[in-house]
Amino acid sequence: MDQAGVLREMKKMEDKISKINPLPEQKGCNEDTRVIAITSGKGGVGKTNIAANFSYILSMMGKRILLIDADTGLANIDVLLGITPEYNLCHVLHGEKTLSEVIIQGPGGIKILPSASGIQQMAELSKGQKLTLLDALNDLNERLDFVFIDTGAGIAGNVMYFNMAAKEIIVVVSSEPTSLTDAYALIKILYQGYSEKRFMILVNMVKTSNEARSVFRKLSNATDHFLNLSVEYLGHVPCDNGVPEAVKKQHLLADIFPSSKATRCLFSIAKKLCQERPGPYESGTMKFFSKAIVDRDGK
Ligand SMILES: Nc1ncnc2c1ncn2[C@@H]1O[C@H](COP(=O)(O)OP(=O)(O)O)[C@@H](O)[C@H]1O
Ligand SMILES: [Mg+2]
Repeated sequence: MDQAGVLREMKKMEDKISKINPLPEQKGCNEDTRVIAITSGKGGVGKTNIAANFSYILSMMGKRILLIDADTGLANIDVLLGITPEYNLCHVLHGEKTLSEVIIQGPGGIKILPSASGIQQMAELSKGQKLTLLDALNDLNERLDFVFIDTGAGIAGNVMYFNMAAKEIIVVVSSEPTSLTDAYALIKILYQGYSEKRFMILVNMVKTSNEARSVFRKLSNATDHFLNLSVEYLGHVPCDNGVPEAVKKQHLLADIFPSSKATRCLFSIAKKLCQERPGPYESGTMKFFSKAIVDRDGK
């Protein structure tokens, strides 16, 4: 069966499941909304491509998706998709536009909250701006199944903020040693400084699944040994020329190369994400983001 066929089958299965176990009609983000940060220690490991393709694939599976460009330093989801949003996060933070006015429709019906590059003040949000954003997101009048947050790289304040605000964290690593050491540093800070305990690791740009496992083992050995923390293996995406090619064409890989090796892997990870729901989110996460993180860490 080709990839389009697999997607159709998946959609049918989803429809069946929702008939047996219909979701209650709720608005906005709620306790069922999966809010997942896609993050990394080092830049250029594939976060934006992964977040955008997951969004597209899950949307094809009938899920309602919001993709947030939270790389407030180097926003580029709009460039990746070849769209020129009129407004962005900046306008929300300045009270000039509502979130609904800023969110745009992307490929496959995904909703996108664009950010802005090159605006100094966006690189570090103030406490007031963080609260404005949380209020706006919590009040969103849409029912969402998944919110993907494409964060910046590293350990800067905004990266921590968006990771803490998400309910789940996927750390993307490549086989480069610097990507591993930087991922370790990020995990260490989120664990020791912010009490974050669950990390899903996605290994990108590898040749084989064995190489991915070996990269994962290096990272998990370090977290086990030095932090006494187990991290989870989510999956791998192979190095695939289709990715840069799709980027050049400003289209999504999963859209224009649905049967490529990388799309197939992204698809099986997306499926796994749907199936392996974590245990119930802690109470107090009914809202999209908890404001406690701003009070705790905000400035
Ligand atoms: N699986 C892959 N195979 C080949 N190239 C990839 C893959 N994933 C990402 N890339 C390339 O790596 C570069 C960085 O990707 P990007 O998603 O922008 O990373 P990040 O958001 O982490 O900075 C892009 O040029 C992209 O084409
Ligand atoms: Mg990026």
